[in-house]
Amino acid sequence: MVSRYLVPGLIVCTIFVVPALGQKGGNATPAAAKKADSGQAPSEQGQAAKAPKGLKGAYVGKFLIGAAGDLRGYSDSELANIKANYDILTPENCMKPQPIHPSEDRYSWRTPDALVKWCQDNDIKVWGHTLLWHAQTGRWFFRPGADGQPVTRELAMARLKDHIMTVVGRYKGRVLGWDVVNEAISDRGSGKTENLRNFGWYRQIGPDVLTLAFKWAHEADPKAELYYNDYGIESGAVKNTGKHASSMLLLKRLIAEGAPIHGVGIQGHWHLDTNLADVEKAITNYASLGLKVCISELDVTASGSNTGAFPRRWGRRAPISAEALEKQAQFYAKLFALFKRHSDAISRVTFWGISDRRSWRSRQSPLVFDAQLEPKPAYQAILDVGLGKKKSAKP
Ligand code: XIL
Repeated sequence: MVSRYLVPGLIVCTIFVVPALGQKGGNATPAAAKKADSGQAPSEQGQAAKAPKGLKGAYVGKFLIGAAGDLRGYSDSELANIKANYDILTPENCMKPQPIHPSEDRYSWRTPDALVKWCQDNDIKVWGHTLLWHAQTGRWFFRPGADGQPVTRELAMARLKDHIMTVVGRYKGRVLGWDVVNEAISDRGSGKTENLRNFGWYRQIGPDVLTLAFKWAHEADPKAELYYNDYGIESGAVKNTGKHASSMLLLKRLIAEGAPIHGVGIQGHWHLDTNLADVEKAITNYASLGLKVCISELDVTASGSNTGAFPRRWGRRAPISAEALEKQAQFYAKLFALFKRHSDAISRVTFWGISDRRSWRSRQSPLVFDAQLEPKPAYQAILDVGLGKKKSAKP
């Protein structure tokens, strides 16, 4: 499998100075321009402005629709696209441990602060991502302390607690919830055990680190919704094997240990052959534990490899055929029909990016807006399902 983290950009958030978001040029956004010359009477305009349109409008009352991005350097039309289509934004990189806390005595708040402010100003919610992870986490967390001795469990715990209290505390009341733990389960297990990943935090603190992270996040912001987030955890749900079975064991243990956990994020980095029966069964299994479910990082590759992301050095994006676009649209329609059937369990569906240009899998055209920010066939297909314009497709 291609390494999931070869994509450049890991440290981008830490080193650039962020211009004030949405201030660029001071031009009217395309959406604003459209409204201004729509020819409607002012009262009609008021009515139309109240009823949300775009992707989020099609799923009002069902679940939130989200996107991921860091906003730094986004054009006015990209910002307008976010306002038009999404209820909630997940910072794609800038709140991860390494970018936000690059060394023990330094936090990098500029990009995440600007993102949170822009979202507040534009009535868009924010989802925090992520606190405890094996990737994009500074090595300093595991380096010897001031006494030069190797890091102890106590020191590692103190560093993690301080990180969580500081980051979650800063955005308290301004962030709806957090992916507290990200990707703690290894791949290719039988499902008979939790099969936890042998990562730094696990080695330094032990399996209770997950519960501790939830408790500290809750202490820092008691009203925040706290989720476990992972990829491939739907896999094996129908037969209750593999990564799904491991996730059920882990979640039951977290609940038994008193972790304040409210939900599970199924990342949803999928492809045209993803098994939708597994997706559906995973949703109902998690709901049966009393947990909410979200699809936290949705993208469906329409070409190329089925896993991870192509490294950018593998070349240019291959042109995508009309046939592949149509297949992708049909797949997204089936997915959203499935989500709609389970909207009582589903809190949110977030796309991992706003356009194929911005996507971490941009070589594989996985999103619903193309590289020019034009809607692809999948966009209309998802709208039609949400608005009930087509018969829901069964998986
Ligand atoms: C990805 C980002 O999209 C990339 O920009 C970055 O280079 C690597 O990380 N699972 C996650 C996300 O939880 O944080 C990852 O995001 C994609 C996989």
